[in-house]
Amino acid sequence: MEHLTVDISHIAAQYGREAIDQLRTEVLAARTHLLEGDAEGNDFLGWVNLPEEYDKAEYARMKADVARLGAKSRVFVVVGIGGSYLGARMVIEALQSEFASMVRGERPYVVYAGHTLSEDYYSQLLTLLDHEDYSVAVISKSGTTTEPAVAFRIVKAHLESKYGKAEAAQRIVAVTDARKGALHDIAAKEGYPSYVIPDNVGGRFSVLTPVGLLPIAMAGFDTDRLLQGARDMRTLCMADGAFDDNPALVYAAVRNFLYRKGIKVEMLVSCQPNLRYLAEWWKQLYGESEGKDHKGLLPHSLSITTDLHSMGQYVQDGERLMMETMVRVKNPGSRVPVPTDDQNLDGINYLASKSLTQINDCAAEGTIQAHLDGGVPVVEIAVDRIDEYNLGQMIYFFEFACGVSGYTLGVNPFNQPGVEAYKKNMFHLLGKPGF
Ligand code: PA5
Repeated sequence: MEHLTVDISHIAAQYGREAIDQLRTEVLAARTHLLEGDAEGNDFLGWVNLPEEYDKAEYARMKADVARLGAKSRVFVVVGIGGSYLGARMVIEALQSEFASMVRGERPYVVYAGHTLSEDYYSQLLTLLDHEDYSVAVISKSGTTTEPAVAFRIVKAHLESKYGKAEAAQRIVAVTDARKGALHDIAAKEGYPSYVIPDNVGGRFSVLTPVGLLPIAMAGFDTDRLLQGARDMRTLCMADGAFDDNPALVYAAVRNFLYRKGIKVEMLVSCQPNLRYLAEWWKQLYGESEGKDHKGLLPHSLSITTDLHSMGQYVQDGERLMMETMVRVKNPGSRVPVPTDDQNLDGINYLASKSLTQINDCAAEGTIQAHLDGGVPVVEIAVDRIDEYNLGQMIYFFEFACGVSGYTLGVNPFNQPGVEAYKKNMFHLLGKPGF
């Protein structure tokens, strides 16, 4: 199987490969911290071996629940925020039809709750749920996060009034801590089937636990292949081979190199709109892992060519503070040729008989060249196609590179103390006891 590659030749051409190679020792030391667990944050390294060590009995139980709930649901509500929903959403949105909400298939259509406090959103969600058979996964590692707690109360009340309390309990699964937290207690009391987020796996590194696997399987996608892709990428990241053969080390090195050169923003860019939630997941992974102690690249994203008509001017000509990491898909799979038109009034017969993939590739090449000419360093990440196997590779690649990159930056990549600040203010404003 082909594996994901990272091409830093544009940066090497600009700065010299030797300059980037000066970070090798630091990057290798950071990798050793991940493998030996001898640095700050070492109590959250469970994700490193997760693709190999995932509990087979729990996995089989999860698949049985997916089959049971899938058979009686047209809609599946995933209640969670941050790391408790972005990974699942990334994979589902990458693999399902862009028009899945309009053209429903055999599998339940996954909708999300708990990631917002918008009243309009919940009003619209409840209207949908009035008319659809549905079931629910409520996902929270801490089991105490306000947004999913509020959303679950609303959805649970709706479910119980629609089906009665006993059937509602047959339509809910919980994914949470093994021992503690409000969600753990609710699930135990109500008798919901429960799945565990291991203590040593942080939210944003949890997509290969039931947090991600359960919704992805519910949407009808092959979690075995996803895990296989992650396992194969893990083997590559763990190997003691040449530095250049390890895409995670190369990516971690080059982004730290550019950061030290004064780059402040990294844009994850793709020509595939179905990868927009890859960008959202990646933003959380890197933003929450590295943005601390007043350090770290700000993760940003662009979808091209769409955003070239909105942000393209800034990227080309605005302040020079960004690098670009372009995710390229070598074999998208679909073929839609541009038809010939006898009149050629629109003047695009020169494109006739080319596939959209060829045109999109030329747009990507043109963008890379333009941005390089405009002084934006470009890293290229290539994957063979968008499927479960390649998404599994991408998940493990970005996670491993994030751990290495964070340690190279000199932060603990596995905590998120800054997330508490808004909560304290919100709780105070809401009159929560003790705030
Ligand atoms: O990465 C993280 O730890 C966070 O983004 C969490 O996933 C997010 O805050 C949700 O937390 P919880 O799963 O405890 O509800």
